[in-house]
Parts: sequence; C-alpha cells; structure tokens
Amino acid sequence: MIIVENLSKVYPDGTKALKWVSFRVSQGEFIGLMGPSGSGKSTLLHIIAGLEKPTSGSVFIEGKELTAMNEDQLSEFRKNNIAFIFQFYYLLEDFSVLENLTIVGELAGQKSPKKKALEILDFLRLSHRINHKPYQLSGGEQQRTAIGRALMLSPKIILADEPTGNLDLEEGKKIFELFLELRKQRGITFIIATHNQEMRNYFDRILRLKDGILEG
Ligand SMILES: Nc1ncnc2c1ncn2[C@@H]1O[C@H](COP(=O)(O)OP(=O)(O)OP(=O)(O)O)[C@@H](O)[C@H]1O
Ligand SMILES: [Mg+2]
Repeated sequence: MIIVENLSKVYPDGTKALKWVSFRVSQGEFIGLMGPSGSGKSTLLHIIAGLEKPTSGSVFIEGKELTAMNEDQLSEFRKNNIAFIFQFYYLLEDFSVLENLTIVGELAGQKSPKKKALEILDFLRLSHRINHKPYQLSGGEQQRTAIGRALMLSPKIILADEPTGNLDLEEGKKIFELFLELRKQRGITFIIATHNQEMRNYFDRILRLKDGILEG
C-alpha cells in the first residue's frame, strides 16, 4: 500500500532530517512512528502526505509515485486517499461542529454532506455536541471533530502527528480506540507519530527513528 524508498531530507539550512529511510506498509496496518524529539517523525509524515518534498528518494501509494507528481496531481491524490490529523486540531472556530464537517463535504462537491456528517458524528459519539462551537468542547471532543473532518473525504490512509499530544491518557486512549475501530470497519491504514509510550501496545508494528535514521 505504502512504499517508502531511500528517503532523505536535507532542509535549506543543512539540517539532515531523514537519512535513507525505507519501509513498506500494508493495507489496514496500524503503525506507530516513535523516536526522540527532532528525530524526523513529522518530516517523514509530511513527505508521505505529499505536503513536503524529499531531497531524494520516493514514496509510492497504491503503485502511484507521489514524489513524481506536480502540485495539482498531488492535491487531487491527497483528497481521494490521505487524511492528516495534527496535534492542534485546526478547527474553524466560528463554525459549529456540524458545520466544520459539512464544509469539507461541500468544498469537495458532495451531494449530501450533512447526512454524511451526521453519520460520522454519530460514530464519533458527538451527536450531542453538533451545534457547539469548538471552544465549547473538551480537547478530546475537539480532536474527534478534527477526525470527523478527515473522515468526510473517506481517506484510505490516515497520517496522524501526535494526535493525543494535548490530551490526558484516558482521552488519548479513546482516540486510539476510535482509530482501531476505523481500521476494522473501513480498512483504513494508519501511521501515527507519538511520544506516548503508553500507546505502544496498540500498534501492529513500530517504526523507530533516531537522528533521521530508521532503526527498525
Ligand atoms: N523547516 C525546517 N527547517 C530546518 N530544519 C527543520 C525544519 N523542520 C524540521 N527541521 C529539523 O529537522 C529535524 C527533524 O524535525 P521533525 O520536526 O521532523 O522532528 P520530530 O521527530 O517530529 O520532532 P518532535 O517529536 O519534536 O515533533 C530536527 O532537527 C528539526 O530541527
Ligand atoms: Mg514532530
């Protein structure tokens, strides 16, 4: 499903963030990406998502080479395949939970975004919060809303960068359990960067980065 080959990233200031990183991920795998601060986790996720270009190396998703696409091809590919979830939720603050989801569907030209949004919010156990604004929600509810936004485009892959970094352990576990349910119900493939050792046991497999090198 995902093939990463000899990926290197050197930032303009000379920082070598990734060095010859190669690995494969199968469909439906639940992968942890761990390693110290500055080891290259975010850089790697951004490159797999096509949000950043590598200095050398390739990323293939379902046989398509992301690293050979132009910006238009990339954004089209991303829209149909990949969702990114951040530590900070980036919700639209002036809009309700429901509107935060429906807008995504409307922009993508979906026929009945409201119906889809309500189904997703039900799955995320947010039905009682649909008319609330983000500031009225707990951190866990805000992150679930952000996940809802991601699900509006029916991604095949979810890349998450410290998705539970702002949550306490209990809320964090709920998010991981939702992710596992999505994997089970929809076969979504996950790569999740986390510092949280408590989450280790959720993963099928852990990729460990140190100083930009994949240690296996
Ligand atoms: N835009 C940039 N320009 C220069 N160096 C950068 C840039 N972004 C990241 N780096 C450097 O690249 C290395 C990897 O950074 P990255 O953010 O990928 O690490 P990380 O593992 O996600 O760390 P954290 O756990 O703190 O989020 C670090 O040395 C960082 O300082
Ligand atoms: Mg990071």
